[in-house]
Amino acid sequence: MAGENKDASLLRIDYNNLTSEAVGAAGLAPETLASLKEPLTGALKNIQARHQKGELPFLDSPLDQELAQNCKKLANQGRKIFQDVVVLGIGGSALGASAIFTALRPLNHNRLSDRKRGWPRLWVADNIDPEGFTALLATLDPETTLVNVISKSGATAETMSQFLIAHDWLRKRLGAKAIAERLLVTTDPANGVLRKIVNDLNLTSLPIPPGVGGRFSVLTAVGLAPLALAGVNIKALLAGARLAAAEIQRPWSDNKAAILAGLNWLMTTTKGRGSLVLTPYADALARVADWFNQLWNESLGKGTKLDGSSTMAGQTAIKALGATDQHSQLQMWMEGPQDKTIMFLGVEKLRANLKIPAIFQEHEALSYLGGKTLADLLDCELKGTARALAENGRPNLTLTIPTISPQAIGYLIQTLEMATVISGVLYNVDPLDQPGVELGKKFTYGLMGRAGFEDFLDRYNQGLSSNTKFILS
Ligand code: PA5
Repeated sequence: MAGENKDASLLRIDYNNLTSEAVGAAGLAPETLASLKEPLTGALKNIQARHQKGELPFLDSPLDQELAQNCKKLANQGRKIFQDVVVLGIGGSALGASAIFTALRPLNHNRLSDRKRGWPRLWVADNIDPEGFTALLATLDPETTLVNVISKSGATAETMSQFLIAHDWLRKRLGAKAIAERLLVTTDPANGVLRKIVNDLNLTSLPIPPGVGGRFSVLTAVGLAPLALAGVNIKALLAGARLAAAEIQRPWSDNKAAILAGLNWLMTTTKGRGSLVLTPYADALARVADWFNQLWNESLGKGTKLDGSSTMAGQTAIKALGATDQHSQLQMWMEGPQDKTIMFLGVEKLRANLKIPAIFQEHEALSYLGGKTLADLLDCELKGTARALAENGRPNLTLTIPTISPQAIGYLIQTLEMATVISGVLYNVDPLDQPGVELGKKFTYGLMGRAGFEDFLDRYNQGLSSNTKFILS
């Protein structure tokens, strides 16, 4: 296992700064790195066997050419009719589309003129703050808006409330008959209330493959449809993801997903580093950190092992953005608790660059900038920060993609999803469930008066009466 992967085609992983050679006692000693062989070989065998049994269908998402063609067709028709596409979804039903849209369309896509944009604007409404949702609806013309409701369960309170509001908004403005043409429903192919509504009203719909959970679903209709509608090259995106998916067959030491999983697992379990900061150095990749946050946290933060015993597994993902967060979080990474691993995400060649003018050269504090570019500065800041952390005994690693292309993003997304399920095997937890989010939902149902959840309202109210002492107002 070398400190740097030689196959730099779509993703390079440089983990020199995770080694004891670079960061001393906080880093991984050569024998600890070598000890990854057994668990990673076992984890890869486990994943391959489950994949063969059809248990991890997200690995096959990039192979579904028919779905990609359907989404492309839908997009080609949609762009003639719609100016705006609004995704109603939350968590895994929203973050992937948002991440890839931000990465692969111009950062000002939604502000470009119709002619320059060429494709509808895309809005991902993943919160229920009435102020935000009201403001969004106020900017849209229902006549030329496609509402893409995305919910695998068809039961998520946030998405379903948005759906009811958007349905009413369309009906009041355009009449009941016009609704069907402006609604696209992405949900389970057979189950859930949304599927029932699709069937009852004969709405256009796309299926979410049953075995693919929300946070692993961006390369299904969940992400592909809105992304294609916004003009993303989903064919190239899937081609990149396919390359990564095929690498699940590679041996551990040459397997990027396995190495990422193994390194972070070691940092957590042998070095007490319970947090992983992902800090991309490109505005276009900022939302990738949001998407990764959900993937890593919801998949690996688990209280029960697969053998039923209790645990407190996982590594908390924290999002950051370079260079911005050098001026907010870096101080904590450098001198705060020794509980984090920092994962930089850099881009070899950014799509745009800006030369810094060589003016005010008489000022030494400015003259070194003149004639360089913003890309030079960003790159030097990433390198300088990584080095500074290492010199201060703070372990870090750097992922680098050659450019922000659909292939590279597809490859990165698929690799991180694979790293997540491999990590699940290492921690011996189920990365595909999220039991910890259920109890809060039940209290919410109780508080909202949903039938069958009266007990939770009672429990909540009992808690309230004994909790009055410690409130300041
Ligand atoms: O990753 C997950 O499974 C979750 O984050 C879900 O995507 C999220 O809760 C939304 O669920 P649904 O698609 O059923 O509305």
